Amino acid sequence: MKNISRHIRPFAAAIALGSASMASAALQVHQLGSDNTLVRITGDNERLLIIPVQESMPDAKIEVLVDGKVEDTFYVRLADSNIDYTVPFDLAPYLAKGEVLLNIVSEVDRTHSRSASEFICWDEMKTAGNFDSSNTEKYRPAFHHTPLYGWMNDPNGMFYKDGRWHLYYQRNPYGSKWQNMTWGHSSTADLVNWEHHDDALRPDGLGSIFSGSSVVDKNNTAGFGNDAVVAIYTSAGKSQIQSLAYSHDNGSTFTKFKGNPIIPNQREARDPNMFWHEPSQQWIMVLADALEQQMQIYTSPDLKDWTYQSSFGKGYGSQFGVWECPDLMEIEVEGTKQKKWVLVCNINPGGPFGGSATQYFVGDFDGKKFTTKTPSHVAKWMDYGKDHYATVSWSNAPEGRHTVIGWMSNWDYANEVPTMQFRSANTLPRDLGLFKDADGEYYLSVRPSAEVETLRGEESTFPAANVGAEAISYKLPAANDGICEIVIDYSAKNCKDLEFTLSNEKGEKVVMKFDVEKCEFSMDRTASGLTNFSRKFPAVTTAPTHNKKAQGTLRIFIDRCSVEAFDGNGRFAMTNLVFPENPYTDLIVSAQGGRAKLNNVTIYSLNATN
Ligand code: FRU
Repeated sequence: MKNISRHIRPFAAAIALGSASMASAALQVHQLGSDNTLVRITGDNERLLIIPVQESMPDAKIEVLVDGKVEDTFYVRLADSNIDYTVPFDLAPYLAKGEVLLNIVSEVDRTHSRSASEFICWDEMKTAGNFDSSNTEKYRPAFHHTPLYGWMNDPNGMFYKDGRWHLYYQRNPYGSKWQNMTWGHSSTADLVNWEHHDDALRPDGLGSIFSGSSVVDKNNTAGFGNDAVVAIYTSAGKSQIQSLAYSHDNGSTFTKFKGNPIIPNQREARDPNMFWHEPSQQWIMVLADALEQQMQIYTSPDLKDWTYQSSFGKGYGSQFGVWECPDLMEIEVEGTKQKKWVLVCNINPGGPFGGSATQYFVGDFDGKKFTTKTPSHVAKWMDYGKDHYATVSWSNAPEGRHTVIGWMSNWDYANEVPTMQFRSANTLPRDLGLFKDADGEYYLSVRPSAEVETLRGEESTFPAANVGAEAISYKLPAANDGICEIVIDYSAKNCKDLEFTLSNEKGEKVVMKFDVEKCEFSMDRTASGLTNFSRKFPAVTTAPTHNKKAQGTLRIFIDRCSVEAFDGNGRFAMTNLVFPENPYTDLIVSAQGGRAKLNNVTIYSLNATN
């Protein structure tokens, strides 16, 4: 049973205002011309303005005025002829000061003669005491983090402190397409049960709040107090500059630094990622020099004064897009005491299957400069699916863990995927390691974080089997639309291909395959369900298995709109969105060019957390 009350945003101050129970006085709407509207709202109204949205409309610009002063500006696709959904705007901070006047400029579509005064939104705009964000959509994931409503892209600013993992994310609170970049905030004690909080950082005069990172300043190097949480993010206005904010309540609320911007760089640079470098006793920041396809490295004693040291990337790896969302971390090589540095460079487009993806470089870092011995033409990918982007790690993670989470979408079609109430989820949280392969190169290992196993519910184990061209079929659990984890111990050394197909009675399917000779794993979603919302969506993605023995464990996680496949030893990860019209009901396994052994097949139903 779903706990509906969790999904109704609390808006605690509504009670303090004493307005929640009052009847909503009518809004006064004054049409000033074909594209300009004034909406007057008095303190007699309830605190939330409910705004009707039509996604196909262009953005209208809304200025919030109190006593003639512009207090806030945001953009909404106001409904003209049809209401797709509504979004709430919190009026409380402004109503507390007096009457609110919204000065709205709508971009009127020049291809027809309607003026903004004819929009349907004016009749349906109203005030309310709360906003019901309970799920109304079949593709909302059951065990992945999603915003309650509205748009989400990059995870960012993540830190761990006092037993909680904090996740901030690029959010549009006023629609399910990219706009109004704000840091949304959620947190969890166990990486699977998420609590949603109020937005942490909202746009200001320097711009909207793009991606960044947070650190726990244990020794008060910045002077904001011991253990203050310090966030640095990109203020994206006319330019992209770096700004700082700090928090004394474990990241619930932030105060913006008066000296912002702290790095007024002269070109498009964004997504600052910071960490404390023990050997050189200083803070390091990696900043994406987006259009130059390189990462800049800065150092600082106090998180406020930053000195440029070096750049890495020109001519390295994939160069076919902008470089964004960096991370730099030191990771121990499996089975050794050796440590190497991993520089994460998210890139868009230029991913191996088009659009966005997460590439990385393994090398050394001396406190000022990152270097690698890997030949410059080599590109390594953290995940070989099409829906894994902007992945970065939690700072201050316990037990030296390198725990990351990604945005489970792709800029190729993120704004078009067939959901509306919310758009985009995060990947499962994953823990990174490093391994050295036979080619002498170092690669990241990627495993679902151990906490993910706590989602397991009912377990069905099937006897060992020997499989050839005649397929073996397994039923997926029906509960919660078939969300599940499938664990298969396999040996494919005596066949050419070992194939796993997820399918439903409509014939929709996802086909996964080990190609033994090529040492590759692939996933084909061309017939997975709805695919025609973007010609860039149908895809076959392929990963190197780093496993010549062709035996091991495959783990597959199915949520309502995603399939994530992992090698049991973390040798590859593959994340792909799927939109089947009905949930997949069957797993069908077959082998071609010989026979394969299935030593164990276990299917776990998973407990929904959303
Ligand atoms: C990556 C990105 C970042 C930027 C953010 C804006 O997806 O383009 O570089 O900070 O999204 O939302």
